[in-house]
Amino acid sequence: MARPIVSCLRLFSLLMFFGAVVSNDRLPPLQPPQQDPSYLKFMFNAIELPSEDYYDYIIVGGGTAGCPLAATLSHKYKVLVLERGGVAYGEPNLMNREGFLTTLMEADAFVSPAQAFTSEDGVPNARGRVLGGSSAINAGFYSRADPEFYHKSGVHWDLKVVNQSYEWVERAIVFRPELKNWQSAIRDGLLEAGVDPYNGFSLDHLVGTKIGGSTFDKTGKRHTAADLLRYAKPSNIKVAVYATVERVLLASSSAREGSRQSAIGVVYRDRHGRYHHAMVRKQGEVILSAGAIGSPQLLLLSGIGPRPYLSSWGIPVAHHLPHVGQYLYDNPRNGISIVTPIPLEHSLIQVVGITESGAYIEAASNVIPFTSPPHSIFIRTPSAPLYLPVATLMEKIIGPLSCGSLRLASTDVRVSPIVRFNYFQNRVDLERCVNGTRKIGDVLRSRSLKDFKFRNWFGDHDFRFVGPALPVDQSNQHQMEDFCRRTVSTIWHYHGGCVVGKVVDGDFRVLGIDGLRVVDGSAIGVSPGTNPQATILMLGRYVGLKIIRERKKIHK
Ligand SMILES: Cc1cc2nc3c(=O)[nH]c(=O)nc-3n(C[C@H](O)[C@H](O)[C@H](O)COP(=O)(O)OP(=O)(O)OC[C@H]3O[C@@H](n4cnc5c(N)ncnc54)[C@H](O)[C@@H]3O)c2cc1C
Ligand SMILES: *[C@@H]1O[C@H](CO)[C@@H](O)[C@H](O)[C@H]1NC(C)=O
Ligand SMILES: *[C@@H]1O[C@H](CO)[C@@H](O)[C@H](O)[C@H]1NC(C)=O
Repeated sequence: MARPIVSCLRLFSLLMFFGAVVSNDRLPPLQPPQQDPSYLKFMFNAIELPSEDYYDYIIVGGGTAGCPLAATLSHKYKVLVLERGGVAYGEPNLMNREGFLTTLMEADAFVSPAQAFTSEDGVPNARGRVLGGSSAINAGFYSRADPEFYHKSGVHWDLKVVNQSYEWVERAIVFRPELKNWQSAIRDGLLEAGVDPYNGFSLDHLVGTKIGGSTFDKTGKRHTAADLLRYAKPSNIKVAVYATVERVLLASSSAREGSRQSAIGVVYRDRHGRYHHAMVRKQGEVILSAGAIGSPQLLLLSGIGPRPYLSSWGIPVAHHLPHVGQYLYDNPRNGISIVTPIPLEHSLIQVVGITESGAYIEAASNVIPFTSPPHSIFIRTPSAPLYLPVATLMEKIIGPLSCGSLRLASTDVRVSPIVRFNYFQNRVDLERCVNGTRKIGDVLRSRSLKDFKFRNWFGDHDFRFVGPALPVDQSNQHQMEDFCRRTVSTIWHYHGGCVVGKVVDGDFRVLGIDGLRVVDGSAIGVSPGTNPQATILMLGRYVGLKIIRERKKIHK
């Protein structure tokens, strides 16, 4: 792929999600006065914390899995959450659906709540750097894992506890979206295109077309994993923000089978650059919930990884674990965007088409101010931009089967690792993309979408595309494959890097190390269902409950 400058690519990739560029000019809608979230009472800026302290569980990363995990464990144990970012609460762009694109447009490498990174494949990407993690910057669609996921993930799931954990999450932060014109048209178009039956509103993964859940409420306000901290026991938990963990501290313990390494704490740095030690009490654990990029990075920086690789960086090897940073996946996103002749609602994903040919179809819409040149989006210009309704239709392939890897760019944890996803390296992924793209073509030809066409000079009705249109001859395999490769983008569902069976066992314990687990999207080797956040939120609650039960058994 040719490599224009990164910012251009980022712009282009977002363009493919919405058609164009947003500016800051539109303020979020007025909100009724909100009560401060209760977790503010036990939240600290890391500079306020002592240079050394002891806890039962130290959770690295206050993200999608980390927050529900911490809230759960705090009912029995003393818990510390260490989050490198700040708080989303009170930030209008993070807290409202309308701010989604602005947050991504303003992503940088080092300070913004959405951290920008570009894979070696040339695709711009992002991850959360804020309490709530990527659930605080995502598109909010919520849908449980597909039933097969539980069989192929290498974990002995207790499905009753799985369901209870989903319900615990859903009671607090999941809402039923209200469909307006674009999302309704997509629902009807999917049904016309044969993605049936219609399953109405459901949080379950069901073949056909459905309305899914959303972590945006009726007023468009975002709810995140951080909201789940309201379930925590305040006297047992501390949540530290601006706390960047640099490595896990390991010590050898002479266990029965000989000498084993065991996690005894972590080293983290606050915003003033001061170092702190958080140490685990007897039977305590360090749990990495730093996400698919952050958790493998921290294992490597702690000396857990492939021996020759660690040695090449001069990192002392604590434990040789060859697959750390391997089996890293990202589901490609492909689709089209159109300008429409009729006004559109602002919608992120609400409807999904679950096909049986390897792809999921989703949609978004927005009213977008076109400003020129594009870079002026960061400047409030007095001249009003031209507002245009732009709608997007996209597909995500299941899997994927193509996998890539992660390697360090630096021994400084603040520098994002280098990742490569090898989109479409496996031909099955390409076939799935072609299938999904053909389905998009079917939806575009449906009667339900005719109002979104413009009348052309000859009196015919046509779509007006922003960016590439689908190939005219959609039966041409070669052209369809070319479209998939040429327009590949990310749907931000990257996962893996510490996969179950390769880096952690079925209880998410790091192989060969005591007192250390990885609980987040990095442990997952296949994307669960249409969108991963439901499963990752559930996972945090689920492992928390499991740990409490395990320890109860030991004491009996
Ligand atoms: C733009 C975007 C849109 C998306 N849309 C959707 C959607 O609509 N629906 C859906 O289901 N999924 C969506 N996703 C995917 C979903 O949000 C993620 O898969 C999920 O949130 C990942 O959860 P996690 O717990 O693995 O990691 P995260 O939630 O990213 O949590 C990791 C946390 O660890 C912290 N951290 C990392 N390193 C360190 C360190 N060294 N020290 C301290 N803290 C550290 C990070 O700051 C972060 O808070 C989207 C993702 C993005 C980025
Ligand atoms: C869990 O929930 C799913 C979907 O809602 C349901 O089909 C399944 O039977 C439930 N499983 C258990 C063990 O309760
Ligand atoms: C693509 O779709 C065709 C027709 O529905 C199907 O037979 C084939 O298995 C699909 N390919 C993949 C990789 O799922």
